[in-house]
Amino acid sequence: MESAIPSHLQTARSRHRRVPDDYAPPYPSFVARHKPAVKRVIMAYFGVQVRGAATPAVAAALAEIAARFAADNGPTHWDRAEYVDQAGFTNVVSVAYWDDAARFDAWFSSAREGWTGGQGSGVGRFIEVLRPHVERYETLFSSPDRAEGVAVLADAMSGEVQEHAYWGGMRDRIPLSQTDAMAPGGEPRAIREGGRIRIVAHDNLCLIRSGQDWSDTEASERRMYLDDVEPVLREGMDFLRDDGLAVGCYANRYMRVVDATGKPNEKSYGQSWWKSLAALERWAESHPTHVKIFGAAMKYLSTLGPSAKLRLYHEVTVAAADEQFFEYRDCHPKTGMLAGVSL
Ligand code: HEM
Repeated sequence: MESAIPSHLQTARSRHRRVPDDYAPPYPSFVARHKPAVKRVIMAYFGVQVRGAATPAVAAALAEIAARFAADNGPTHWDRAEYVDQAGFTNVVSVAYWDDAARFDAWFSSAREGWTGGQGSGVGRFIEVLRPHVERYETLFSSPDRAEGVAVLADAMSGEVQEHAYWGGMRDRIPLSQTDAMAPGGEPRAIREGGRIRIVAHDNLCLIRSGQDWSDTEASERRMYLDDVEPVLREGMDFLRDDGLAVGCYANRYMRVVDATGKPNEKSYGQSWWKSLAALERWAESHPTHVKIFGAAMKYLSTLGPSAKLRLYHEVTVAAADEQFFEYRDCHPKTGMLAGVSL
């Protein structure tokens, strides 16, 4: 058993973990391990938005961003997912990951100009980027053999980690939690620059990408996920999408991962922007939907152990004010962080 916090990021604590030193979780879980030389990671969401079904303009935008990803200094890994939002718009989001800020910086300015600059393209477009220091984020995987998201960049998966399977485990896995409560500071505000709207959020804004992969499940496990778990997950995701603001969730997207041709994979993820880590914790431990699937998953993972074929993972970041970038063009006013300001 090892700590989720890698040894090079362990420090003298002023704040304590939720569990005693001899705590033993009821089932195994794993975290992504970067080489110590990695100081920051970059998570960049490029969205395209259109009313109703996707159009040729959407296809053109997707081809454009894929070509940019393939260019010099492009990301080490990216994937794509889509969903229909509360206003009935189709949003296709390509998420790209770097672990070298200099490469990202060399790549980003012309990509930004191409995506949200110029005269606009007749479809909504947005860019949402976090570039956290490694002290400010954590990952968790129920199986160590298939990395997703930012973990694809990692050097390896850890062995079994101690800090999980209890409320507060997420916080305890974030290295900065050893010394900092990560409380939010300030309110988001909008800055208009021609046709673009930039949102300047606030210190300790929080992002979660929480993924589900049922592609390897068979028979009873598949039925259990699709018939019992997924509808409850969807209800929780709909709540955050429609009523999240009151509980500190600026925006929530329940995304279906698609392949290069746009065909849906048997993978999904919930992605949401939060006022604070504390607000995300409160939702996870108190909303009846998540409490129910948390309990069901704990029981199921404890029984099946490593032979479970349903894979769950997440990545959670608490970003400093200077580690964020949000920009929207021709998007409806409830898109992403636009929902957090009055326009
Ligand atoms: C099928 C879908 C899901 C299942 C079965 C599930 C189940 C679980 C389980 C078992 C844990 C504990 C993990 C551990 O520490 O070992 C957990 C943690 C958590 N989940 Fe989910 N979850 C799902 C989806 C989501 C989604 C979509 C979100 C939010 C967008 C979310 C938010 C959280 C948070 C914030 C925690 C950490 C709680 C803490 O450590 O204090 N979950 N979930």
